Order: sequence, then structure tokens, then C-alpha cells
Amino acid sequence: MASITIRNLDETAKRRLRERAARNGRSMEEEARLLIQELPVSRDADSNGATDGNERLHVALEEERSSGNSFAVNDYPAAGKRILLIIGGGIAAYKCLDLIRRLRERRVEVRAIMTKAAQEFITPLSVGALSAQKVFTDLFDREDEQDVGHIRLAREADLVLVAPATADLMAKMANGLVDDLASAVLLATRAPVVVAPAMNPAMWDHPATRRNLAVLKADGIRIEGPAKGEMAESGESGTGRMVDPMILVDLIGDLLDDRPKPLAGKRAVVTSGPTHETIDPVRYIANRSSGKQGHAIAAALAALGAEVILVSGPVTIPVPRDVALVEVESAREMLRAVEAALPAEIAVMVAAVADFRIARESSQKIKKNKRTTRQPLELIENPDILKTIGHHKRRPSLVVGFAAETENLVKNAQAKLESKGADWIIANDVSLSSGVRGGVMGGDRNSISLLTRTGISKWPEMSKLEVARRLAEAIVESLSTSRVEV
Ligand code: C5P
Repeated sequence: MASITIRNLDETAKRRLRERAARNGRSMEEEARLLIQELPVSRDADSNGATDGNERLHVALEEERSSGNSFAVNDYPAAGKRILLIIGGGIAAYKCLDLIRRLRERRVEVRAIMTKAAQEFITPLSVGALSAQKVFTDLFDREDEQDVGHIRLAREADLVLVAPATADLMAKMANGLVDDLASAVLLATRAPVVVAPAMNPAMWDHPATRRNLAVLKADGIRIEGPAKGEMAESGESGTGRMVDPMILVDLIGDLLDDRPKPLAGKRAVVTSGPTHETIDPVRYIANRSSGKQGHAIAAALAALGAEVILVSGPVTIPVPRDVALVEVESAREMLRAVEAALPAEIAVMVAAVADFRIARESSQKIKKNKRTTRQPLELIENPDILKTIGHHKRRPSLVVGFAAETENLVKNAQAKLESKGADWIIANDVSLSSGVRGGVMGGDRNSISLLTRTGISKWPEMSKLEVARRLAEAIVESLSTSRVEV
């Protein structure tokens, strides 16, 4: 394949690539290669005249953008806000470098103050390069005091984050001591303060730290962590590790989220993932559902303020924040969990529920012998959760189902709307010929049509996150205009 020189890309392309790579946990080079490989033949070099690797990458990124893809980084609730990061002196200080990158990717402005001790672990040069801002280190810096003095630093922050917070910094905060820039700003700020402690487990357990912790909590300071695990000191483990930067990123997003919450006070139950139907103690029937679409819908509804109960079959993806997860295995367990979640205003049934289960589960592992090789597994029908909820006495006012089809998409989906008692059916073509890059089942993208009782709208191919966001917006609109016909 043609060579790619990432530094030759324009800034927008670089940013998009960086966001995509961060989200997928790959290097930018790796991401670039995969993107080009995924480029559909029709949009490939030949039809675009793009012969060089970078041109092809531009085409791929443009394709990504024009199809309405959106990354979680673009929906970050604290985008545009200003964080003042106070870096204390501990080995965990290196995690701040990643934290700054993650926040900046999400369009958060990060100003950093480093204590003297912090500078023993990481340099102001790296912090400054990643934050693209001057790094503040001294209380009595003539230049700073004229320009951005400590009071201004304190005042201009939407949130102050102390990470890693050493026992010493916590002690100063708890007692209102001021002997450096960090402690001065902490006393002067009126912004919310989050503290991410990191220290040796013995220091964390010490009664003095416990006392300081209690004072900080009583002062309304949010303490996040520390986490349990191996310490930097060899052979030591316990509670004292600074939490993962992404936990802080999520927390900051939550704390600074001032977007409207049109679904506040409404409960939504969402099913997601596959079901596992037991054959014997080691075998089960399952399907290729990853849970990505269902989980994204749960997250999008929660982001708009809904109280979300996510009933999920076995999946390996992270639980979205702000949702209550109920883990189930079989279709029957899923139905029980969904009924237990009622009453709810909204039900979105995304799970790929097994239509059948084994008539008689074997309590012992089925052995390979002449009798079993010839004997077919007897199947019986599972309950239809969507249909049960669509006709339930406590039916939610908006019931949404999915129809994953490989043929006759619209016709089958229309029939499902009727038979299942749903208000909306989201029809998606899961056939291999759907044209969706990476495939729908297990992939990150989707191509859907939304069928209501009054019509059908075909949405362009987009990411599952974007489908979720748009669906959540459509739900808000339909509930607010009471346009749901049942
Ligand atoms: O009939 P089909 O499986 O294609 O219907 C798909 C829709 O019905 C999805 O919304 C799915 O979550 C739901 N369903 C269900 N319980 C079943 C089968 C499907 O809730 N047993």
C-alpha cells in the first residue's frame, strides 16, 4: 500500500485521525492504515484519482465525516470548559500527561500548575507541550502575577482537579495552609474541586490522612479514588494508586454537564446484547450481537437525563455511565428483568434475543457418542420480550423494537410493528451485502430505517453512537409532542 506521512496531513485531518485513534486505542499510524483498508472500493484511489497514501487517508476521513460519524470525544459534556489541573509530586504524575491529552481531545482547555515536587517526576516542558499552555509553578512569579495571577487562575477555572493529590497536598487543603501556588489557588477558588489521591497504602491508611480526608469531604470536595493494586514500590500493593485518567475524564464530564435534560424524570428500559441459552453446563446457543448499539442507546438516553435501566445479555463492552445495569443470560431472565423495570415511559428493545431455547437443558456435559451425534437438539420457543411489553398492562408510552433482517427489510419490519405492538421499529439490514463497512453485527456502524405508524424514514449510514444520539432526540421530540400513536 502507498506510504502515509502523518505529519504532512492538514490539522483538521490530523485531529480527526487522533480522535479516532484515541477512541479505538490504536496509534495514529495503525488507525490510518485500517481506515484506508476499510475505504470502500467505489471511493478508493482509482475513482478519486488519489494515488498517494495521504490523499487516500483524506478521502477516508472525509467519508467518515460526511456519513455523520461522531465520536464519543465529540459529545463530551464538558467541551469548551476550562480545567485547572494541579499536579502533585508523586510517581502517578505521569498519568497526568495522558489525562491532559484525553481532555484536550475533548476540547477542554487545560491549565496546569505543578508543585515543586511534581517537577521531580515530570517536566513543565511536557505538560506545557500537551496542554499547549504556559505551565504555572511559582507563587511569586513577577510575570505571572501581572498576567495570570493566582487569584485569576483560581477564578477562571470551571473546575479544579488535583491529580495526583499527595498526602501533603491533602493535609494543606484540609488545614487551609498556603505556602505555594497550588495551595494558594486551592484556597482562593470557588470552582468545584476534585481530588484524585495517590500515595503509599500506609500513608493512605494513616489516621492523619483519614482525618484530612473527612475534612475535605465535609468541605464539599469530591474525592475520586485511590484505586487498589500494585504500587510503584516493588512488592507493595494495596489502596493508593491514582485512578485511571479516563475515570477522571468521565467524572469531569458529569460534573460540568450543563446541557438540557429533556428526559429528566422519565424512566427508560433498554435491552442489549445477545442471550445465551444453555445446552449443558459448558455449552450454549448465542449470536453475534456485541451490545454496541443497545449500550449506545442506553448512554444517549441517560445523557438526556432519563433514568435508564439497561438489561443486557453477556457482552464484553464497558457499561455506559449513569445507567443501572441488570445482567442476564437467557431470554427468560431478560423478560423478568424488563418486567421488573416497569413502569417506564420508554422501552427500547435492542437485544438479539434467541427465538428458541433447548427443551431440556442437560445437567451434565453431553458426551460424544453414537446416540448424541445422531440426536437433534429439541428446541422450544422463547418468550418474545418486545411483544410482551408491547401488549403489557403497564405498557410504556413509547415502545421501540429493532428488526435485524437480511431480506425484505421494510416489509418484515412493517409486519413486526403490528404483531409486536410497537410504536416504532428500527429496521437494519444485517446482511453481508448491506454495504456497511465492517458489517453491522459486532461492527461500529449501522444503516437503519425508522418505521413509525405513520411513515418510514431512511437514515444514512452512520456510527452506532450517532444512531443512538439521533434516536434519543427523536424520542424526546415524540414524547414532548405526544405524537405517539398506539
Ligand atoms: O422477531 P425478531 O427477533 O426479528 O424481532 C426483533 C425485535 O424483537 C427486537 O427489538 C428484539 O429485541 C425483540 N425480541 C424480543 N424477544 C424475542 C425476540 C425478539 O424482545 N424473543
